[in-house]
Amino acid sequence: MNLELSLNDFMSSCQIRAEAALDARLPSIAKIPERLHQAMRYSTLGGGKRLRPLLTYAAGHALGLSFDRLDGPACAVEFIHVYSLIHDDLPAMDDDDLRRGKPTCHKAFDEALAILAGDALQALAFHVVATDPSIKLPAESRIQMIEALTTASGSSGMVGGQAIDLGSVGKSLDLPGLENMHIRKTGALIRASVRLAALASPGLQKQVADKLDHYAKCIGLAFQIQDDILDEESDTQTLGKTQGKDRDSNKPTYPALLGLSGAKEKAADLNEQAIDSLAGFGAEADYLRQIASFIVQRKS
Ligand code: IPE
Ligand code: IPE
Ligand code: MG
Ligand code: MG
Ligand code: MG
Repeated sequence: MNLELSLNDFMSSCQIRAEAALDARLPSIAKIPERLHQAMRYSTLGGGKRLRPLLTYAAGHALGLSFDRLDGPACAVEFIHVYSLIHDDLPAMDDDDLRRGKPTCHKAFDEALAILAGDALQALAFHVVATDPSIKLPAESRIQMIEALTTASGSSGMVGGQAIDLGSVGKSLDLPGLENMHIRKTGALIRASVRLAALASPGLQKQVADKLDHYAKCIGLAFQIQDDILDEESDTQTLGKTQGKDRDSNKPTYPALLGLSGAKEKAADLNEQAIDSLAGFGAEADYLRQIASFIVQRKS
C-alpha cells in the first residue's frame, strides 16, 4: 500500500477491498437456504464504514504485513460486527427500523430469520479464521486469533456489554460502570481488529503488541463515546440509523452522564492517549494515528 495515500484514499481502498473479500466469503443466494443467505448478504454488503477491517489493514500496514494475508481476519471481525448489529436492532434489544440507511434485517426479512442470519454470520467468522487460505500461518496462530475473537465477542466482551446495556435501561450507571459497559460492548471488538493484525505477525515483540493494544483500547472506548454523542447531535439521514434513540430509550450514555461537552472532552483525551501509545512507531503508523482522530471527529 502506497504511504502517500491520504487517509480518505486509504479508507476507500480498504472499504473496496473489504467489500470484495466479504462478498467472496459469504454463501451464495443460489444455495439453500436461499432466504437466510439473502439476509446475511443484505446486512453485510453495501454499507457501513468498515472501521474494523480498516483497523486490521492499518495495523497490518504499521507492521509491514501484506494485505492479502489480512483479508480473512478483516472479514471475520466484520462478520461478528454485522451479527452484533442485526441482533442489537431486534425488537427484544434496541428495536430499530433503520440500519446503514436501509430497513434493519428483521424489517426487510423477519425476526426469526434475522436471529438466524446473525447466528450464521457469527459461525462464519470462526469458520473463516479456522480455514481461510489467505491466513498463511500455522494452526497455533489461527487458534490465537480464534481466542482473541471469542474473548472480544463473548460474555467478557461484546455480548457481556450488550447484557449490561440492556440491564441498565433507566438506571444511572456511575462513570466506571459506564466505561466498563462501553469497553465491552464496542471496545473489545475494535481492540480485536488490531490484535488480529498483531497475531498475523508471528514473532512480534510483546512490547510492540502491547503498544498497539493500548492504542486500540483507547480508540475502542472513544468510538462508543462518539457513537453516543452522534446519537444526540447528528440526524437520521447522516447516521443511516434513527437519531435520538438512546435518550428515548433511557440508555446510559456518556452525554447523559457527563453532558455533551464532558463526553467530547473524554473522547479527545482518549484520542491523545491513543496517539501517544504509538510514539515508538514511525510514519508506517500514520494511518493508525489518523484513524484515532477520525473516530472522534466523524459525523456518522
Ligand atoms: C455501530 O458501529 C455500532 C457500534 C458498535 C457503536 P459502526 O458505527 O461501526 O457501524 P457501521 O459498521 O459503520 O454501520
Ligand atoms: C451497540 O451499541 C453496540 C453493539 C454491540 C452492536 P448501540 O446500540 O449504541 O449501537 P447503534 O447506535 O444501534 O449502532
Ligand atoms: Mg444497543
Ligand atoms: Mg442500538
Ligand atoms: Mg448507539
